[in-house]
Amino acid sequence: MVYYITGSPPCARRGRVQTMIEIREAADSDWSEIWPIFRAVVAAADSFVFDPGTSEEEARGIWLARGNKVYVAVDDGHIVGSYLLKPNQPGLGSHIANAAYMVHPEHAGRGIGRLMGEHSLAQAKEAGFRAMQFNIGVSTNEAAVRLWTSLGFQIIGTIPDAFRHGTLGLVDAYIMYRSLE
Ligand SMILES: CC(C)(COP(=O)(O)OP(=O)(O)OC[C@H]1O[C@@H](n2cnc3c(N)ncnc32)[C@H](O)[C@@H]1OP(=O)(O)O)[C@@H](O)C(=O)NCCC(=O)NCCS
Repeated sequence: MVYYITGSPPCARRGRVQTMIEIREAADSDWSEIWPIFRAVVAAADSFVFDPGTSEEEARGIWLARGNKVYVAVDDGHIVGSYLLKPNQPGLGSHIANAAYMVHPEHAGRGIGRLMGEHSLAQAKEAGFRAMQFNIGVSTNEAAVRLWTSLGFQIIGTIPDAFRHGTLGLVDAYIMYRSLE
């Protein structure tokens, strides 16, 4: 599916331009472009619980694990973001989806996260999930918390000191939930 976003380009050009972003299912061969995004996002130690030094092999195992539906956001032939969608729990809890999103830091703030969020909600609904839940939303991750609340997620619980932030130390994490019905 192709979307248009209007925003400032990541290069030095001034002004707002309309860009075409395609969101499609990832192929195995996309990994070489997903990995630099995973590495940069996880190394920041401010949004994901994965070890900041996660190896490429481990990262591939996490992101492309069997059972994950993985999508990429493509701008002008280059992958600028990726998200995965999966059941939050096995068996009797598998009707609630879970997802994880990463935008290349150089492309943050262009609307790609919002596009992927909206796309994932539509995909989850189409796949028959009844709700979506994030289990460990880092409370200090302002961009993510604002994005998810603006897309209808509610903070349904706070886990004290659940995340060892790379620069802030122990910070709270949120459980965020949104019905898809
Ligand atoms: C969080 C993340 C997915 C957002 O993607 P993005 O493409 O940068 O965000 P967008 O440009 O789509 O902005 C969406 C909303 O996020 C919020 N936002 C984005 N950047 C922000 C910032 N620097 N400060 C505060 N809010 C911000 C705004 O509410 C924005 O709403 P708007 O569209 O009305 O302006 C992205 O920054 C990212 O990959 N971060 C690291 C990994 C992560 O946190 N993943 C999410 C946890 S699963």
